[in-house]
Amino acid sequence: MGGVRRRDVIKYMAAAGIAGAFSSLIIPTIRYVTPPALSGAAEYPRSLLVFSNGEPVRASQLPVNKPYLFYYPLTDTQNILINLGDRNGNPVEVKSVELLVTMHPLKVPSLAVGGEEKPIEGPPNVAKYVFPGGVGPNRSIVAYSLICQHLGCIFPQLRFYPPGQPTRFRTNPPDIGQRGGVLHCACHGTVYDPYRGAAVLLDPALRPLPAIILEWDSSTDYLYAVGVVGPTIFGKTCNLCGDVVKDRVTIYTPEEVGGSA
Ligand code: FES
Repeated sequence: MGGVRRRDVIKYMAAAGIAGAFSSLIIPTIRYVTPPALSGAAEYPRSLLVFSNGEPVRASQLPVNKPYLFYYPLTDTQNILINLGDRNGNPVEVKSVELLVTMHPLKVPSLAVGGEEKPIEGPPNVAKYVFPGGVGPNRSIVAYSLICQHLGCIFPQLRFYPPGQPTRFRTNPPDIGQRGGVLHCACHGTVYDPYRGAAVLLDPALRPLPAIILEWDSSTDYLYAVGVVGPTIFGKTCNLCGDVVKDRVTIYTPEEVGGSA
């Protein structure tokens, strides 16, 4: 089996999850996040990705820089699937990276007009996890929660802009949005980097988007969603608290769900 091996996935999942860490907000330290306390389903389903016509998605035929939407691990938690590429449409390998989850703002914002933000004293209160990188023949296919970690805006406010396509609204600084290749939330301007595990490039969100762990079966070219790593999905007390999807999930184009890409 190519892409991320199942053994590796289990390792990543063991190092991931965040819900348990939220209970330790008062301990100022750096550590790896612990698996979330689960209720309902005991583990993440292994779900084959299929198109709306029922045909399994073949990783080597997935168009570059074209977003798809799908629900996983719950029937109401939407995600984005992208075969990431450069501005010429060539697939780009997405490497594994260690990311931080900030548990509270690192600065105290001033409420006074013209006042200055002050850094919070003491060690940062953050958690770490490993984003496993892209899968598929070019290791370029990734999937992320499409529920903004700031206040929960979803598609079409939170959407992917391919490299070379500027965001619809200006970012501050503007060059980050102008060059494209980002996930941008139009609600309050958060920008995430899909080429680095959906790390935050511009706040106000503090946490990366949770990543859907994908598995590529090189013998069939099929793709599976097998887990979630990173912060808890926004609006959920745990990633499996709710109606869990079955062993097949459908991916849709933005047009199929009533929005332009
Ligand atoms: S909800 Fe996305 S930036 Fe506020």
